[in-house]
Amino acid sequence: MPVSFTLNDRQRSYSGDPRTSLLVALRDEFRLTGAKDVCGEGFCGACIVYVDGAPKVSCLQPVGALEGAEITTIEGIGSVETLNPVQQAFVDFDVVQCGMCFPGMVMTLTHFLRGNPHPSRDQVKSALVGNICRCTGYERIIDAVMSLHNSVEPLE
Ligand code: FES
Ligand code: FES
Repeated sequence: MPVSFTLNDRQRSYSGDPRTSLLVALRDEFRLTGAKDVCGEGFCGACIVYVDGAPKVSCLQPVGALEGAEITTIEGIGSVETLNPVQQAFVDFDVVQCGMCFPGMVMTLTHFLRGNPHPSRDQVKSALVGNICRCTGYERIIDAVMSLHNSVEPLE
């Protein structure tokens, strides 16, 4: 039986194996390749999407458990034409190296800044505890985030 959910504000359904991870479904079925398949085991954060508004590692979410869920991917919070504020700050601070970690970083940081628009440097570091950058560009990432005062809409 198909599983139905909202994906980036569109009603979608998935008819494949309900044990398939959300990450695989997003990339292979819905052609949304922003979430990256890096570790596939929940450690790196490259595959983070929002499920019902909360950041989740999509590699550990079986699609079959998502009936009625509201899913938002990196494609749903910014585009090449209209970068979200975190994406724009990463461009401005020339942060991106290989780029594999960045979709997850943007998802984590956008959610974090909505609830905490004036973080300390240490708070930003703590927010990124679940996002691994193997190119180790952390200091510039944090510099970019610290430049974002009031740029991300606070949570209602
Ligand atoms: S690919 Fe999902 S946490 Fe690494
Ligand atoms: S930029 Fe390469 S893993 Fe972060």
